[in-house]
Amino acid sequence: MTKTFRMDEAQPRLLDETGQGIVGAPLDRPEGPKKVSGRAHYAADGLPEGAAHGVLVRATISRGRITGIDESSVSGLGGVIGVFHGPEFLRNPAQGMAGEAPVQPGDEVHYHGQPIALVVAESFEAARDAAQRLVVSYEAEEGVETDPASASALEQDDPETAGDFDAAFAASEVTLDRSYATAPQVAAAMEPHAAVAEWEGDSLTLRGALQMLRFNKDELADSLGIPAEKVRILAPYVGGGFGSKLGIGPEAVAAALAARALGRPVRVVMTRQTVFDAVLRRSETSQRLRLGADRDGRLRALSHDDRVSNIEGEGFAEPVSQASQFLYGADGLSFAQTLARVSRTPAGSVRAPGEAVGMLALEQAMDELAEALEMCPVELRLKNLPEKNPMTGQPFSATRLADCLREGADRFGWADRKPMGSRREGEWFVGMGMASAARSNMLVKSAARVRLGADGAVVETDMTDIGTGTYAILGQIAAEMLGLRVEQVEVRLGDTSFPGASGSGGSFGANSAGSATFLAAKAIRETLAGRMGCSLSELTLQDGIARGGNREMPLSELVEEELVEEASVEAGDTSESHFSSGFGAHFAEVAVHAYTGEVRVRRMLGVMAMGRILNEKTARSQALGGMIWGLGAALTEEMAHDPRTGHVVTRDLANYHVPAHADVPGDMTVVFLEERDDMANPIQTKGIGELGISGAGAAILNAVRNACGARVYDMPATPDRVI
Ligand code: MOS
Repeated sequence: MTKTFRMDEAQPRLLDETGQGIVGAPLDRPEGPKKVSGRAHYAADGLPEGAAHGVLVRATISRGRITGIDESSVSGLGGVIGVFHGPEFLRNPAQGMAGEAPVQPGDEVHYHGQPIALVVAESFEAARDAAQRLVVSYEAEEGVETDPASASALEQDDPETAGDFDAAFAASEVTLDRSYATAPQVAAAMEPHAAVAEWEGDSLTLRGALQMLRFNKDELADSLGIPAEKVRILAPYVGGGFGSKLGIGPEAVAAALAARALGRPVRVVMTRQTVFDAVLRRSETSQRLRLGADRDGRLRALSHDDRVSNIEGEGFAEPVSQASQFLYGADGLSFAQTLARVSRTPAGSVRAPGEAVGMLALEQAMDELAEALEMCPVELRLKNLPEKNPMTGQPFSATRLADCLREGADRFGWADRKPMGSRREGEWFVGMGMASAARSNMLVKSAARVRLGADGAVVETDMTDIGTGTYAILGQIAAEMLGLRVEQVEVRLGDTSFPGASGSGGSFGANSAGSATFLAAKAIRETLAGRMGCSLSELTLQDGIARGGNREMPLSELVEEELVEEASVEAGDTSESHFSSGFGAHFAEVAVHAYTGEVRVRRMLGVMAMGRILNEKTARSQALGGMIWGLGAALTEEMAHDPRTGHVVTRDLANYHVPAHADVPGDMTVVFLEERDDMANPIQTKGIGELGISGAGAAILNAVRNACGARVYDMPATPDRVI
């Protein structure tokens, strides 16, 4: 029986009282040795007996209709088994969490590079060769709009407002009105999207590279027209996701359909080019920031309007102004979004959707305002921290933004920052910049099962570990709660036959699956307290010994038969009564080359308050990864499209520049200011993964300004734009 728990009120901080000190400790990932020795099997590893290989064929028109696929053009080639196409192959990648695969009708092409068929062969090489030779005829539409800047199909929502922005802006003593643009980005997960499908009768097992299995299972079943109970998805290891694996993808649907038709397993691995073409991208944005303030720096008016794009029929629009809506507040606030419909790769969630790009603009605008006010940028922010969410009126569940700003300034040596352009070392201008960080925090319905036996415990949930450290933290939570060493806890993930969890996305995974694991272990603790004849709060479990009510007993005697508890957690009243977000402050020092405009980041510091830290090492890795992505967004990452066709031009990691080691400074520091978010979830945590990126790029760009005076409005700030 699953015990369902709703987060309706603040919960006791049990993890602070268990006394083991396992939760929070910077422990290694238990699966690390497997990963570095090739024994961790990712989706495309471990090919089943008799498997065939599929390669996706992509459309070569921007929009229109397929009039024919000439199978005979490849059927005579050595090793080719078959060509699969039809309505099912024309689906766009789903957003995830919907539980349904979005429908793209029949024979329509909506963007250049859209998967339209699967060629299956005895080897990957033969399949790839045939996929390139397959003759497809189209009826291409004329005058297809592929450029968001000139698109005419626009959807505009009514602005979201609080107070009267226009009046407050007009009444402001100092005003700023600036426009910024950010480039489209790709998630660039290291593991390309892959699936291996195997049928047994009418039941499908799919090994996939996916983030949210509970939802992916429903999406896949919906795509195939079969009941969800007939689908099992396995994803014990996932090589990064960053949003690109939230929903079921064309590789999974295609593999399943082909495997069913052929009566043998089929593996489909996307090439890197296909990943760029056919996996959700982050929309480019154009943003307008208007800020109005009093001379003393109090914000009176704040407006953040944006324009993003997506393909026709897709519901997602990058929530650009998300952080601007709660970070500072003002008398008048206004946020308007325009969505341009273009024929380009569909846009979707990419790490910290909204904040990642919105804060690049907001936090540069705040820097410009500080400059106009001749005020310290840290002071300006400190002066404008609201008591409550300014749009909704909800109190913040927990915020230590002011502490992060002060602590960061202190540790970074902010007081040594020089006036703009006044610090020069040879051919390099050197400067410092900073920005706030914010990323809203969520709890998503999740279940987990914990089994306690005489020698140890097992945690089972369909939660994924996409490189984030899920195996480590769930093991730590169970060990902490049950008085075991982490080595005594086995964590089993990534299998839909286990209780369904949130999956990994939106930085909610640790909060959600962690809480479910905690609650299941807590239920076991309650049973043990009962057996000891004491109350839950009197019970201590340490080093395999239970103590309580003047008794002491080895756990192995107390648990003669395996104890099994399953618990489920879901958001409740606290998600309405309070607003929860992670907060932080980013600081950067850069050198800008006086003649080439090259920017070298010299050091970065992120001070972050993100609830309880479950594992200091994996948390730090997440924060660092985010900060490095912030560096990429600020300086290097740009997906280029051919404006005539909408085709992605930068389709490999040589042309799409993610920061390499040489781009990342050795001096990268992360400092956690611990806090407990009592309103967020039963383990008082906040999401970590996405806070690191949110604001980090702006700190770098503000440092570029301080170094040499260049303000780059069109990001990334490549040398040609800086000079
Ligand atoms: Mo995240 S972009 O919700 O994986």
